[in-house]
Amino acid sequence: MGLRRIALKQGADLDGFRLATRRLVAAGIAPHDVVWCAEDTPVLFPPQAAEEASPIALPRRVAELIEVVVCHRDPERYALLYELVWRVLQGERALLEMQADPLVHRLELMQKAVHREVHRMHAFVRFRRTKSRPNGPDHFVAWFEPDHFIIEAAAPFFVDRFRSQIWSILTPFGSLHWDREELRVGPAARREDAPDGDGFEAGWRSYYESTFNPARANPAVMRAHMPTRYWRNLPESAAIAELLRAAPARATAMIERDAAAPAKRMPEKAVAAMGDQAPASLAELNRLIAASEPMVSSGSTRAVLGEGPVGAAIAFVGEQPGDQEDLEGRPFVGPAGQLLDRAIAEAGLDRARVYVTNAVKHFKFEQRGKRRIHKKPAAGEVAHYRWWLMEELNFVQPRLVVALGGTAMLALGGKAGPVTRMRGRTTFLGRPGFITVHPSYLLRLPDEAAKEEAYRAFVSDLRAIRRIVEDSVTGGAADVRRSA
Ligand code: URA
Repeated sequence: MGLRRIALKQGADLDGFRLATRRLVAAGIAPHDVVWCAEDTPVLFPPQAAEEASPIALPRRVAELIEVVVCHRDPERYALLYELVWRVLQGERALLEMQADPLVHRLELMQKAVHREVHRMHAFVRFRRTKSRPNGPDHFVAWFEPDHFIIEAAAPFFVDRFRSQIWSILTPFGSLHWDREELRVGPAARREDAPDGDGFEAGWRSYYESTFNPARANPAVMRAHMPTRYWRNLPESAAIAELLRAAPARATAMIERDAAAPAKRMPEKAVAAMGDQAPASLAELNRLIAASEPMVSSGSTRAVLGEGPVGAAIAFVGEQPGDQEDLEGRPFVGPAGQLLDRAIAEAGLDRARVYVTNAVKHFKFEQRGKRRIHKKPAAGEVAHYRWWLMEELNFVQPRLVVALGGTAMLALGGKAGPVTRMRGRTTFLGRPGFITVHPSYLLRLPDEAAKEEAYRAFVSDLRAIRRIVEDSVTGGAADVRRSA
């Protein structure tokens, strides 16, 4: 029997590969009798409805690996995958367990490379604001040069994060276009098709400059996390060379400035509670908070302190303890806390590895019969507790502080505002920050469908938080994940 030539579409042609594989298997054609080409030419087999070739039952791991590896740029990907399918069907059902097998080893490396590239696309796409027509809505356009055929695999993340915007991502392999309702995959694009920067770029640059920690600057680590080929498309990259050059001097200046800094001013009540002893550790600060008089109208049982490891990469800041938190003396253990725990786990984070605290440390409530009904703290009350919160975060030193809702946003950033407009992106909250909704907002939504949708968006924010922390270019992989 002569060689069979199978030509698939350029890119990740999963459907084409599946169809051809079914037919080849049905015809009993072994891998060494097939030549696979990825190009836009017709397939050699006569056109046939997909149903005519019976589907093949493969172990789930094999099917998942195929879906990922077809996105790899290696021209041999289809040949390798067909060999895998063939061997599995010949009886090697547990082939993927054999990591020493050269075929398995190579496919696993390819799978990892694709995953890494999807991850990088999520981290390094930067949108520029344009208008597709005068007076029309904003259209956000990004240019990205991936190493593999991953744009469709990466698309759900962008749809999830930027559902309410109109955007396009242009790449040399194809383009993605979202119109707030539908995702369209379009043709390849050129760099010139993407607009040049605007105020957005300046914003990214200054955010990057303000969060850049010169003491941690390590060019080798930075390059490993953000390969230099991505730099030219990142607005902040203009700042990188200069920041690196100036890093040693800035680090020294920072140390000198901290050493020379006068003691920070504290609210009078806090000073009174503390005497003139500045706390030297989080434990000491906590003792002072625990001994302080509640600023919010009293009745609460105790001050509820923050919880989690010092040095946690992420610190979540809520509003104030609720009824159950007040009784148990721990933050986020009531209904909102249980929802937060569920979302944290679903986003792949580990509650034991993050820090959780509140802007206000005492429960403010109104007594109605036997029930203690939560009352929102006033701006002055939030301001009173602010010093404690800042000190607390100075001891914890998170890479990212997450404001859960408006009160936390006010406490951290000093400004009130609509959370829904600010949510879902990095921002400066006295330190690198991220704003999202408070979990009790989800609990208050009236109908189940709205609740479910809001919960999904919340989990999506938490996933974004995890990625931001893992991708932070100046450090190593953050210890925020759930254990495997
Ligand atoms: N809501 C908060 O903001 N904090 C808690 O600890 C519990 C509910």
